[in-house]
Amino acid sequence: MTTNRTFTMIKPDAVADGNSGAILKLIEEAGFRIVALKKTLLTKERAGEFYAVHAERPFYNDLCSYMSSGPIYAAILEKENAVADFRTLIGATNPAQAAEGTIRKLFAKSIEANAVHGSDSDENAALEGSFYFSKTEQF
Ligand code: PPS
Repeated sequence: MTTNRTFTMIKPDAVADGNSGAILKLIEEAGFRIVALKKTLLTKERAGEFYAVHAERPFYNDLCSYMSSGPIYAAILEKENAVADFRTLIGATNPAQAAEGTIRKLFAKSIEANAVHGSDSDENAALEGSFYFSKTEQF
């Protein structure tokens, strides 16, 4: 079943560079409604939990260190076809391969510091959203 929600994080590099407002503006202009939003700082352990699915990948430790290196914004977004449309809006994981006009093409620095996260399935969107937000924080 397709749901109409996805989950995103604005990553530490984009927050530190002062790009959060510009990124949220692009997200809203693309038709996504912000259902929940918070600025937070992950511990390395908590980042490890979030990315547990990648625990066997060679970059896992670096990714967890990076994602806990500074504040992030976490958000739940709503739109028809949200997961796929948001992945299109942000562009390829590696910004060198990201299409013109995508958020990663505009703001990402590297495959690690790639500005934003976007859920890869409806199931993961629901899990990731509930990692950060209770039901009473979603409007
Ligand atoms: S995806 O979006 O899940 O299809 O991308 P994937 O290539 O599987 O990468 C999963 C997340 O790991 C990050 N990543 C890396 N971090 C550090 N170093 C290297 N080499 C690297 N390669 C991939 C990538 O940014 C993805 O993070 P999220 O937060 O899911 O976008």
